[in-house]
Amino acid sequence: MARINDHYQKLSAGYLFPEIARRVQAFSQENAEADLIKLGIGDVTRPLPPAVIEAFQDGVAEMASVETFRGYGPEQGHLFLRELIAANDYASRGVAIDPDEIFVSDGAKCDCGNIQEIFSVDCRVAVADPVYPVYIDTNVMAGRTGPSDDRGCYENILYMPCTEENGFQPELPDAAVDLVYLCSPNNPTGTVATREQLAAWVAYAKDCGATILYDAAYEAYISDPGLPRSIYEIDGARDVAIEFRSFSKTAGFTGTRCAFIVVPRELTGKNSAGEDVSIHELWSRRHSTKFNGVSYPVQRAAAGVYTEEGKAQVLSLIEFYMENARIIREGLQAAGYSVHGGIHSPYSWLRVPGNATSWEFFDLLLDSTHVVGTPGSGFGPSGEGYFRLSAFGERERIQEAITRIQAKLPAS
Ligand code: MLT
Repeated sequence: MARINDHYQKLSAGYLFPEIARRVQAFSQENAEADLIKLGIGDVTRPLPPAVIEAFQDGVAEMASVETFRGYGPEQGHLFLRELIAANDYASRGVAIDPDEIFVSDGAKCDCGNIQEIFSVDCRVAVADPVYPVYIDTNVMAGRTGPSDDRGCYENILYMPCTEENGFQPELPDAAVDLVYLCSPNNPTGTVATREQLAAWVAYAKDCGATILYDAAYEAYISDPGLPRSIYEIDGARDVAIEFRSFSKTAGFTGTRCAFIVVPRELTGKNSAGEDVSIHELWSRRHSTKFNGVSYPVQRAAAGVYTEEGKAQVLSLIEFYMENARIIREGLQAAGYSVHGGIHSPYSWLRVPGNATSWEFFDLLLDSTHVVGTPGSGFGPSGEGYFRLSAFGERERIQEAITRIQAKLPAS
C-alpha cells in the first residue's frame, strides 16, 4: 500500500467551514422545524451584476460558434483581463503593475494555499492569529511545521497574536522569518492595516529578507480613501510582496470562480547555493504546469466588472453588504455586545459574553436563535472568546437574525 503524506495527520481538526456545516446539519436533523439563518461562511447571496452576466453570456455565445470557439487559453489568463486588472485595480490608484505580473486563477483560496509550494520546506512562517485557516493548514500539509500543541498551535509557526490591545494588528516579530502572511481587511477580525503599518511590514521584510504574502481579497470593502487597498501602494513593496485578489467577495464570484495573484518581477528568493532566483519565474513555472487557465466565459464575465456599468453595479453590491454589516454591528452593540470590524469589511468580530468558549457560544447561538456564525477559535488560539458574523445575506434575514439575538441572547 502507498505511504500517505504523514503531515496531513498533524492537522488538528477538519477544515473549519465543513466542520460548521457538519454541526449545523446534525442540528437540523434534530430540529427539522428550525428556520436557520446562516452567517457563518462568508458566501455571497446577491446575484452576479447584470454587466457581468451580459459579458458571461457573450463569452458562452462565442463558444457556440466555430469562428469564435476557444480551446485552451493562456495559463496565466487572457491578456484582455490582465490589462483591465492592471489599469483599474492598480494604475487607477497610482500603482504600476504590468499585466505580465498578474496570474489569473480560479480562487484566492487556491492561490493562498498553493503559493507556499515554491518556497523551501525549511522556511519559517509567521501568521497573524487569528487567521484565515488556509495559510496554516497548507503549510502543515507541506511539512513545514511540527505537531500542534494543546492550544492548537503548530510547532515552527510563529503566531502573531492580534488582540483588542493591539487593535487586532500583528506586531513585527522580534526574529527574522522567511514568509509572512498578512490579510487586510482582515479575515476574520474585519480590521484594516493602515499605510504606516504596512510600511513597517515592508521595512521589516526588506531588513530580514522575508516575503510578504498579502491577502487583499476584501479590499473592495475599504471605503476610506486614506487606507491602502494594495500593498503596492507602499514604496518598496514590489521587492518583497505577493498580493492575492479575488472577484468572489467583490463581484459575487464565489460560485463562478475567478481571482488573481500579482508577482512583481523584482521579487526574488534564494536557492540553496545562495543565488537570487526570480519568484515570478518560479510561480509562472508552477502555474503553467499545474493549471490550464480559468474558463474563457468566466474571464469574460470578470472583464464585465470593469465596464462603467459593471463598476457601478459592483459598488452597489458592496454597499448592500456594508449596510448589512452596519445593521449587525449596531444591532449587536445595542444588545450589549462589544463588536469590532464591520466598517471596512463584511465581517463583524464580537466578544463572546461571559466565560463561554467560542464553540460554546456557537452552540448557544444556534440553539437559542437558530443563527449560525463562526467560532473565533476556529481561526487560531487568539480567536478564542470571539465570534465572527458575516454580512453576506439577504436584508430581511440579517434583520431577523439581529432581532432574534437582541430578544433571546442579549449580552447584557
Ligand atoms: C470565509 O468565510 O472565511 C471565507 O468565505 C472562506 C473563503 O473565502 O474561502
